[in-house]
Order: sequence, then C-alpha cells, then structure tokens
Amino acid sequence: MNSGRASFGSHLGVILASAGSAVGLGNIWRFPTEVGRGGGAAFILIYFGFILLLAMPVMLCEFVIGRSARSNAVGAFQKLSPGKPWIAAGIMGVLGGFLVLSFYSVVAGWTLHYTVQSALGQLQGQQTTDLHALSACLGAKASENGLQSTDFAQAFNAFVSNPWQPIIYLAVFLLLTHFVVARGIQHGIERYSKLMMPMLLVIILLLVCFSMTMPGAIEGIRFLLQPSLSEVTPEVILGAMGQAFFSLSVGLGCLVTYSSYFSEETRLVKSAMNVCIIDTLVAVLSGFIIFPTVFSVGIAPDAGPGLVFITLPNVFNLTFSEMPLVGYVFALLFYVLLLLAALTSSISMHEICTAFISEHFQTGRRRAAAVVTFVCLLLGACCSLSFGPWKEITVFGRGFFDLFDFTVTKFLMPLGGLLMTLFVGWYLDRRFVEQQLTNNGALSVRSMRPLLVLIRWVAPIGILVIFLNEIIPLFL
Ligand code: PHE
Repeated sequence: MNSGRASFGSHLGVILASAGSAVGLGNIWRFPTEVGRGGGAAFILIYFGFILLLAMPVMLCEFVIGRSARSNAVGAFQKLSPGKPWIAAGIMGVLGGFLVLSFYSVVAGWTLHYTVQSALGQLQGQQTTDLHALSACLGAKASENGLQSTDFAQAFNAFVSNPWQPIIYLAVFLLLTHFVVARGIQHGIERYSKLMMPMLLVIILLLVCFSMTMPGAIEGIRFLLQPSLSEVTPEVILGAMGQAFFSLSVGLGCLVTYSSYFSEETRLVKSAMNVCIIDTLVAVLSGFIIFPTVFSVGIAPDAGPGLVFITLPNVFNLTFSEMPLVGYVFALLFYVLLLLAALTSSISMHEICTAFISEHFQTGRRRAAAVVTFVCLLLGACCSLSFGPWKEITVFGRGFFDLFDFTVTKFLMPLGGLLMTLFVGWYLDRRFVEQQLTNNGALSVRSMRPLLVLIRWVAPIGILVIFLNEIIPLFL
C-alpha cells in the first residue's frame, strides 16, 4: 500500500466530498428538466428504481476498486489486474473526465453569469413581451391566462451565442475549480466541501419554504407526487437511467479516485447509501423549489434546458412584481445554490484527471492541475462556441457541446458502469470483495449478500439492456 498517499481527514469529509461530487447541476438543472419532460412523478419513481438497482451498485464497485487499489482511475485497474484489458475502463473514465468537465463548465459559466446578474439586480424589470411568444420560443404550452412575461429567452440566447462573454465566465469558473483542486485533498477538496455543502443544504431548505408558500404552488406539488403512467415512453426510461448515472457521478472513475483517499475504517456501504440519499433528496427538493414556482404563474413545466435560465427568472419577476426585494433575494439565492452545486461537482471531475496525470507522469499536483485546467479551457471554449459562431460545425451530426454530452452520458458512463460491475462482480476474487465491503470482517457478511447479487446480476444485465436499447437504434 502507498502509505504516503493523501487521504480525507474525517468521515464527514468523505461524505461531504462524495455527496458534493454527486450533487450538482445534474440535480438542480437537469433533474427538473427531465422530470418536466418525463411527466413528473412517474419519471421520479423510475428514477428511484434505477438509483437503487443500478447506480448505487456501480458506486459501491467504484468504492471497492478505489479504496483497495489506492490509485487514480487508470492506476487502480493496473494494480488490481496488471496487464489485463480492464485498464480500458480507467482510460475511458479519465477521457470522460476531460470531456465532462469541459461541457459542464460551460453551463456552470452561464450560472456564474446569472449569479452576477442577479446580484447586480439586472434580472429584474427586463422588458416584457407576452407569454405566448416566450412559450413558443421554449416549446412550452402557453397558459390560458395570458400573463405577461419578460424577455429572458432573447437575453439568454444572446448571451450563450456571444463569441467571448461565456468563454470568460467559463474560464473564471475553471480557475475557481483549479484553485480548490490544486490545494490538495484535505486542504482543498475536503475543506471546501465542508464549507460549501452545508451552505448548499441551508439554501435549498430556505428556497423550498419560499416556493411552497406561493399561491398556486399546490399544482406543482401535485405534478411531483401524482404519477401519470401514460407519459412513460421508452425514451423516458432511458433518460431516467442516464440521469441516475450522471447524478451519482458513477461510471467514470470519479468515485474510484475519491475513494482512493478513504481510510481503512470508512464503511463503504454506509457511505454509498448516505451519498445516494443526500443526492436524491437534493434532486427532489429542487423539484419542490422549481415546480411550485413555475406552476404558480401558469407556465408549462416541460420547458427544456432553458428552464432555469429563461423560465425561472421570468417566474421570479412575475411572482414578485409586488415585492421586488423578495424576488431579488430568491433569485440570488437560487443562482448561488446552483453555482455551489456546480463547483463541488466540477472539483471531482477535475480530480479524476489531475490524480491521473500527477501519478501517471509523476509530476506535482499543481502542475498536473494546470494541465487539466488548460486542456478543459480549450475544449470548453469549443463547446461554448458551438452555441454561437461554430453552430454549423458538427461531428457525427452534433455540435461540440452535444457531442461531448452525448459521448459521456449516453456512452462512457453506462459502459464504464457495466465494466466496473463485471470487474468487481466477476473478475475480482469474491472473498476480496467481501473483505472490502465488510472492512475485513468487522461488519456482517450476511447483510452484504443482497448487494453482491445486485453487483453481479441485476446491475450489469439492467445496464446492458438499457444501453443496447439506446445505442442500437443509432446505428440502424
Ligand atoms: N453528479 C454531477 C451532477 O449531478 C455530475 C458529475 C458527473 C460529476 C460525472 C462528476 C462526474 O451534476
């Protein structure tokens, strides 16, 4: 074992850093979007199933691999299966780490821009146009009551298609991430997770209280709690699995990397459960912030990715037109929340790549982190430009942003997850895996048996079926 290796200093640090990786834009931006498209409660139920049966077992596999090998995502496979092709799973993960950090930071950069705008009060009182125009632009159904709405769609489109402005925000966001990662595990990742995660949880609870008291909020709550099974299509099911993997950060070796800093005493199963619970709770609570708010002004919930950047600022303005100060605080808190969530996740993406470069090429953490930041700035700029001047440039029919998003969420994550369950469930010695899960016999083996069934059978078969369903039509 590598005794000089950095580690998390406390159990709380382990949970908050891992939950920080999981809780991100995926929970607050992507989850409500998918719920809106997938028909509310029905999507949520399917999503819960995937978290429990597929994503959580993959998380456990990542923990077993990372903690036992104490190495970065590639090095871990090299150590546990020297000279075997399993290393491909690690390489895919690191590649995925670069891609995901690049496109994620673009959206995080938009978030930073909206945070600054809301702090300056510039989200309030923009020119009004009627709701039908907005809805047409968003592809959402216009409400019957003909409410007035502000022109955020135009502002959003103008911003994201601007050639340099979003790139500056992207760069600032990447530098923030860099700053934390370069400081190392205990002084960087653990310290800032301990600071940011409690803030994030407090803000979420405040906003939930806010939005639940809005007039008409009950419609939104109903949408979240009453399943309408007629809306469930095969795409919704595929979307729910993609969302479960993305939200728990599994399949790329991010948690292999984090768990390589866990101690011998860390309980893997308990930690995985805690992370899953926190992540799911935050996703559902975000739904409780967004849908009551959106329904309270009668906008349809299926607004797509523009939901938090176009629909919400509109809603803040409309709802709080009588109380601008409350609207100001609500909007600011919301974007700060989104920013904190994005940052704790981007740190973990950065760490997959930084740990690999620093260990594989035996170079210092700071230098490795600088390489990662620089490469992701270049790749991220390509993604950002694909909303503006490079709109026409496509690879396999997709712009850079979509291409990276697709490659990671539809391809690398499920494939990585599948390989990791096969590796832990079938390649590694069963006793070795049990020792890891029970901390060398300190915990009961019996209670681990159902988990082994999930890891060996349920998760790989489930992932394979869904993955093939998604991939095969692309080639037909
Ligand atoms: N889980 C993060 C989110 O929900 C995204 C993420 C993906 C983080 C992959 C790390 C690795 O936003």
